[in-house]
Amino acid sequence: MADQDLMEKLVSLTKRRGYVFQSSEIYGGTGSVWDYGPLGVELKRNLKDLWWSAMVHERDDIEGIDAAILMHPRVWEASGHVEGFTDPLVECSNCHRRFRADLPEVADGQCPVCGTRDAFGEPRQFNLMFKTFMGPVEDAAATIYLRPETAQGIYVNFLNVQSTARQKVPFGIAQIGKAFRNEITPGNFIFRTREFEQAEMQYFVKPGTDEEWFGRWKEERMAWLRSLGIRAEKLRFHRHEPEELAHYAKEAYDIEYEFPFGWKEFEGVHNRTDFDLTRHQEHSGKRLEYIDPGTNERFVPYVVETSMGIDRCMLVLLADAYREEQIEGEERVVLGLHPRLAPLKVAVFPLVKKDGLPQVAARLHQELQKAAIPSFYDESGSIGRRYRRQDETGTPWCVTVDGQTDEDGSVTIRDRDSLEQVRVSLDQVRRWVRERLEG
Ligand code: GAP
Repeated sequence: MADQDLMEKLVSLTKRRGYVFQSSEIYGGTGSVWDYGPLGVELKRNLKDLWWSAMVHERDDIEGIDAAILMHPRVWEASGHVEGFTDPLVECSNCHRRFRADLPEVADGQCPVCGTRDAFGEPRQFNLMFKTFMGPVEDAAATIYLRPETAQGIYVNFLNVQSTARQKVPFGIAQIGKAFRNEITPGNFIFRTREFEQAEMQYFVKPGTDEEWFGRWKEERMAWLRSLGIRAEKLRFHRHEPEELAHYAKEAYDIEYEFPFGWKEFEGVHNRTDFDLTRHQEHSGKRLEYIDPGTNERFVPYVVETSMGIDRCMLVLLADAYREEQIEGEERVVLGLHPRLAPLKVAVFPLVKKDGLPQVAARLHQELQKAAIPSFYDESGSIGRRYRRQDETGTPWCVTVDGQTDEDGSVTIRDRDSLEQVRVSLDQVRRWVRERLEG
């Protein structure tokens, strides 16, 4: 399948099945802004819940927070974003479109929209932060920003969390939340948007131990991504060269996925040193030091950050799961999502719409829902069509109630990937599914 085809197919499938819709579609859409539909929101929640479990619930050394999007404007002076969070921008004097000066065709001197050569003016620095006004007075004093990263909400709360949770260095703070960047060239579906979600964790360590922790987090994050079922050969690290490093970083690795449009970053692991905490100390006049209870030593911790884009990771999951197969001469489209990520875990069908089968199937469906196993009931169309709908929805198991159910109380469970069918007793379906989700 050509790569561009895959992107088009993903956009179309995710719309058809209720994963992703264009924002404000009835008004012609908002540029590069997307809404998650009934199945998209479930996939996203599952992804965030798995991240939160791994980062917060399953360990003692990381605490969660949920900081506000709007922060004191001086935060962004301290963090370096007011001064340095910019992209070089050029405007074509023919079509008046604006582009990032470092896009390959633009750097070559040709406008990617109208094709005019050498029509760009001098590049100017464009700050990517969205500005708005706090309160009714639209003057400079009231200007605030929508956060471009969630990390700063963690830094300013470093001592609040450390003291209230009685954590000792090394420890971390994790957060999932929205971030906003006024990207000059958003695109590639949900890959680069102006409103997106990040799952970030800042790990505070003693200076001198930062490189060791950096190595540990790098490996840990890659292992976690693989545990989601993402194909290992599609994942790799990219080490930042000195000229690529962000203003706060001493060392950084991107975790890249081979998207249909090439290898691109969707997560980063950064050694941010004591840059942020030191700058916040300077700008706020408040000490942000840790006092070692054993040695009474005072120091500003170093920070190892892991930062994943939730929406970009969703695109990784969808692109990695999509496949087309020939089964007995017929084509099927499958979204082979890991069962823990799949929005629906089970679909329940009566084989036919008579002989009391719909009633038995509907009861089973309700029982599964009550047991917090997302289930879908479907009695319309041939059984083959119902299977195919669930295959492209990504549902791992289809349960069919048939004539034999009445005789021996068993149903068929069909596996989305292996197509294997097993007979399981009606009262064991819940346990059977649970075991596989937890296994
Ligand atoms: N706190 C560090 C930080 O924000 P980053 O590399 O600028 O680092 C981290 O962003 C992650 O956030 C990226 O790997 C990406 O997944 C996601 N991200 C950044 N900009 C994005 C955008 N415009 N649209 C969607 N995701 C974005």
